[in-house]
Amino acid sequence: MNKYTVVVVGMGKRGLHHAVTFNANPRFQVVGICDIAPERLEAAAARLGDPAKSTDAAALAKTLKPDVFCFTTLPNLRTPLIRTGIDCGAKLLAFEKPVALTSAELFDIHDLIRKAGVKAVVSHQHRYGKHYQKVKEIVAGGALGRVHTVYGSATGWMTHMLSHLIDYTCWFNNYAPATWAMAQAAGRTKLADNHPSPDYIAGFVQFANGVRGIYECGAGAPDQPEVGKWWGKNRIGAQGTEGFAEVLTNGGWRAVTRSGGSQSGDGAMNYDLDMPPYVQQMADWLDDDRKVHPCNFEHACQGAEIMLALQRSAAEGGQIALPLAVGADEQALLRARIADRPVLVSCEQNRKEFSLP
Ligand SMILES: NC(=O)c1ccc[n+]([C@@H]2O[C@H](COP(=O)([O-])OP(=O)(O)OC[C@H]3O[C@@H](n4cnc5c(N)ncnc54)[C@H](O)[C@@H]3O)[C@@H](O)[C@H]2O)c1
Repeated sequence: MNKYTVVVVGMGKRGLHHAVTFNANPRFQVVGICDIAPERLEAAAARLGDPAKSTDAAALAKTLKPDVFCFTTLPNLRTPLIRTGIDCGAKLLAFEKPVALTSAELFDIHDLIRKAGVKAVVSHQHRYGKHYQKVKEIVAGGALGRVHTVYGSATGWMTHMLSHLIDYTCWFNNYAPATWAMAQAAGRTKLADNHPSPDYIAGFVQFANGVRGIYECGAGAPDQPEVGKWWGKNRIGAQGTEGFAEVLTNGGWRAVTRSGGSQSGDGAMNYDLDMPPYVQQMADWLDDDRKVHPCNFEHACQGAEIMLALQRSAAEGGQIALPLAVGADEQALLRARIADRPVLVSCEQNRKEFSLP
């Protein structure tokens, strides 16, 4: 069977994860890599069998015409690389969360991908962890009774973490559409970060099937003392009439149900374990249109709209109807509207991680 050829743009942390995993899979071959930093290109090429290298993504993609165009740049760079992937004729685009920093950009990206008819996936790969899979299995198996609430909290800030929290709770809720969102935000320290975010955002989502979503991200989010690694202090779960089940990103899973009593198990987010099935399911989808990737772009867009509606609500007040009717620049709205008062933290480690006095 022929291998699918791959170009990977952005040879930072996530680009290397992707490229190494593609090459380790017999169905893929990385034929080209790109970064604007030549030293990163050289270092990466040595680990990837010396593929073609360039500092110009468009030129590289045009020359190599890969089957898969993957990019893993920081959140400020999305639309031009989506265009590059479409223009080079790739069959599948693979890129990183968050899909977009603003709903205006989200709408543009959505139009581009839909009109091109290209497959696309977004890297919400924590879900492959055995502890995430276990929680999904408990929720889907009906042991919680009628699920009425899904929830996610992370001490890490919004543009890093909220996309993950929303995607996994939507997965638990079978991607039922959302009808509105409402949130508040505090603290301006991380607005200037390369993952620009309020220091704290917290809000509610109404799903069309009656389920309530509750989310919080950042310095005001609670500690999860069971978890050592600060970026792994994420608690994501579901509650129903007969119990709850939840995953801690770096602290396993736990559940209490009427028929099963109290249960728990281990598991920790691990790129080496989570990336191979994520990449394999790209091959499966490329081979067979019916095997749609669980991290498909439409799922990611649903989460992105919820995330942007929460931000718009935090900036403008009140409830925001979903789906969003018009695009806006939520980053500008947050910069204009978040009060110039320091965020109040929920634990001393959050104070340190947010470099607060
Ligand atoms: N899914 C996950 O678990 C996960 C984890 C960490 C980060 N991320 C996401 O991955 C993305 C990248 O994060 P990272 O930590 O790898 O960042 P990084 O800074 O390590 O890597 C980004 C790379 O892109 C390169 N780059 C920038 N502009 C470019 C251009 N025009 N052409 C080619 N290369 C360019 C930079 O030089 C850098 O090497 C972010 O969106 C982040 O949110 C996802």
